[in-house]
Parts: sequence; structure tokens; C-alpha cells
Amino acid sequence: MVTFPEGFAWGTATASYQIEGAVSEDGRQPSIWDTFSHQPGRILHGDTGDEACDHYHRYPEDVAIMGWLGAQYYRFSLAWPRLQPAGSGPLHQPGVAFYHRLLDELASAGVRPWVTIYHWDLPQVLEDAGGWPVRDTADRFADFAALVHQEFGSRVDWWTTLNEPFCSAFSGYAQGVHAPGRTEPAAALAAGHHLLLGHGLAVERMRAARPGSKLGITLNLSQMLPATCSEADRETAAKLDARKNGFFMGPLFASGYPDRLLGEVAGLGLADHIRDGDLRHIAAPLDFLGINYYRRFYSRARTPGEIAAARGRPSPWVGCDEVQIVDRGRAKTQMGWEIDPDGLQELLTWVAREHQVPPLYITENGMASDDRPSPDGAVHDGERIAYLESHVRAAHRALSAGLDLRGYFVWSLLDNFEWAFGLERRFGLVHVDYPTQKRTPKDSAHWYRQLIRAGGLDG
Ligand code: FCB
Repeated sequence: MVTFPEGFAWGTATASYQIEGAVSEDGRQPSIWDTFSHQPGRILHGDTGDEACDHYHRYPEDVAIMGWLGAQYYRFSLAWPRLQPAGSGPLHQPGVAFYHRLLDELASAGVRPWVTIYHWDLPQVLEDAGGWPVRDTADRFADFAALVHQEFGSRVDWWTTLNEPFCSAFSGYAQGVHAPGRTEPAAALAAGHHLLLGHGLAVERMRAARPGSKLGITLNLSQMLPATCSEADRETAAKLDARKNGFFMGPLFASGYPDRLLGEVAGLGLADHIRDGDLRHIAAPLDFLGINYYRRFYSRARTPGEIAAARGRPSPWVGCDEVQIVDRGRAKTQMGWEIDPDGLQELLTWVAREHQVPPLYITENGMASDDRPSPDGAVHDGERIAYLESHVRAAHRALSAGLDLRGYFVWSLLDNFEWAFGLERRFGLVHVDYPTQKRTPKDSAHWYRQLIRAGGLDG
């Protein structure tokens, strides 16, 4: 029997733009994702989050499913353009009322809320003023965080400032595959710094207002490994590591931005954005570190011809034209991401070894597959069960080796709007038939329910 400690937090996760829909209701204004998803060619099949799972109206049914599932925690995000449509000023009361209704429902179902303040839906009006590359956005975020924490802090103990700032900065401003779809490497570096600064300022204000709140951040860290042990391949892995992990872990845990990164991007102005005191704010002490795990990366050095072809092509890896991500030929999910549960165990171990970290939570893990109801009405997603089980076992191995891992959240509760991949990629424990909005717990939901009840796995 693989048994998890008493009090280990089991949960599910979602994000506002991915599930809520109701994008123009009750005074909500557009976010960068509304704008981006309506631009032709940005999203697979031209999907948008206009309706998504219609969770804004169907939240009672969704919370009832959570009650049935028995997961003690629900991690969801607050829609900034619903709560502060102008990007500044007081909170907008209809938005506030929605989240109070959701919190009421969660309380009656015995599910504890875990709030993510920012899961990528920046008010468009703030992007129009320059977006995350502009320092003022960090202050706007800290103000927003302080306001929502003041409003909901007596009802919510767990607060994640940002979800995956790597994606906000580098997928959104360098690669351009996420909103706002800009392909400006210098802007992406500035965005990354201002996201971290906004996080630090928010933590300081929330901590001062309510010292009992549990405050943290969620990062999508990945081990970056060389495809071979050649010096050139090792160098590519080190470069990726400095961008995906070091850029965030360094400043957050007090060692600053990696020197090698500062050197490699010296011409792109990052250092000019770092003002006195910024690194102190960013390193504000945290109660937890959330890690979203999907995969790890292998890389090799490109040939001169490949480097020439890559030059100027948008990439999230700023200044890495000579780096090629390598496909290892392993089984992949529908996203094309290699299934690699050992990578989770090794990532957790490595993070705890390399950095002075607070308790860890896996705040997302899961897979997309082409799930459809069978003639018997059920959704038989055995592949997802195998995926989740192997990752839960990997987490348990890390725990058994002494790691301070306190919880695990499945991404996602529901099939939802998977960003650039629209509605096609289904990550849910619960199937959503979009035309009818019918919810059907998949076999994996039954499996997760059983795991939570048993507090572990057989064998
Ligand atoms: C993560 C995001 C989440 C979801 C999963 C599949 O990067 O945080 O919203 O899209 O990937």
C-alpha cells in the first residue's frame, strides 16, 4: 500500500478564463485572452473562452461534483477583468458577489478554496498601457492582490500570487503563442521581472494585512537535461535551465538572477529594469512553493545550418538560437508532451537540494486525451488513470525519501479552454459536452475519488 500522510492535501485545479465563460456579463471587461482568442489564427479551430464551461452559471453543479469527488481543496483563479474591469480602482461588486457565491457553495460542500490571484487574464486596458513589460503593471497587480485579499482573506487561507510567470512572460511576449501574442524578447525579460516584482509587492502587502494567510507562487519548473554528455549539449541544457528555472528560483529564493543569464541577455535591457530594492521585495518569504509538472526537457546543440534557420524565429527561449529541444521518442500525451513520471520525482528532489524552499505542493499535474463518451454513457479514460497513478507514485517516492511535499492537485477538474489549443484538448477528470454543457465524471474521476478515500494506492 502506498499511503500518504494524514492531512496530505488532495485537490483539483482550474483557471478563470478557461472555465467561466460569461465574458461580457455583469460588467466584466475584456482581458488579453479575450482579445487574443478572437484574433484569427491564434487558437486551434478558432475557439474562444466566450462560453467555455459556463462555470459562471453552473458553479453549483461543479461544486457538487467536487463534493462527490471528496478532494479537500479546489484551486481556482480570480478573473481580474471581472473583479476590477478598469485594471485599477475599487473592486467591482458584481464580480465580488460571484466569488462569494462560489465560496459559499464550496463551504457547504466541505471543499477548501485555494485562490490563484493571476492565471493569465490581464485586463486588456493594462496591456493597452504597456502590459507586463511596463513597471506600473507590477504596482497594479499588487493593488489588485491587496484588494482581493482584503475582501476574501477571512474566507480563503491559501493564496497563490501568480501561476507560471514563465508562460506569462515568455510564451506571451517572446514566443507569442499566448496572449498578448507579442514577439519581443526584450519585452519578455522586462515582463518576467515585473511579474516577479508584482508577486513580491503583493506578498508583502498581504502578509502585513493578515499574517495568518498562507502565501506562495506556482512555477512550471522543469529539469533541463542534455541529450548527450557532450560539452556542447550540456551547455544548451544549462542555458534553458537559467531561463525556465533560474530566472524565477534565483530571485524568489534570494540568490538573484543567474549571472550567466544576465551576461547572455546583456543587450536586451533586463538589468535596466532591476531597481534598488526590487530583489528584496521579490525574495519576500513564502509559506509554500507550488510546482506544476507536466514534463522535462532534453536538448542538444544545433548545427550551424539549424542556427541560421532559427535566427529571428519567435521562441520562448530568449537568446537560445543554438539550442534544439530533442524528442526522445517516448510515449506522449495529446499535447505532444512526453510522459515522464520519474521526472516529477527527480524535479522535486532537485528543487529541494538546490534551493532553500518552503513546503512544496504539486499544484498541477495531468494529461490531455481525446476523451469521448462510450455507448454506455461513461468516459473510459484508462490512459489518464495510468498517467495520474504513475505520477502519484512518483510523488510518493519523493515523499518517502524525506521531501516536504504537502499536496497534489489534478489539472483539471473539468475539460476546459486549453489556451492556444482551444476546446479540443481535454484535461478534465470530468467530461464536458460543450454544446449541451453536460458534465460526465470520467473513469479517472472515480479512480481519484477512491484514491482520496483510501488515502493512497494499493501495491
Ligand atoms: C499549465 C497551465 C494550465 C493548463 C495546463 C495544461 O501550463 O497553468 O492553465 O493549461 O498547463
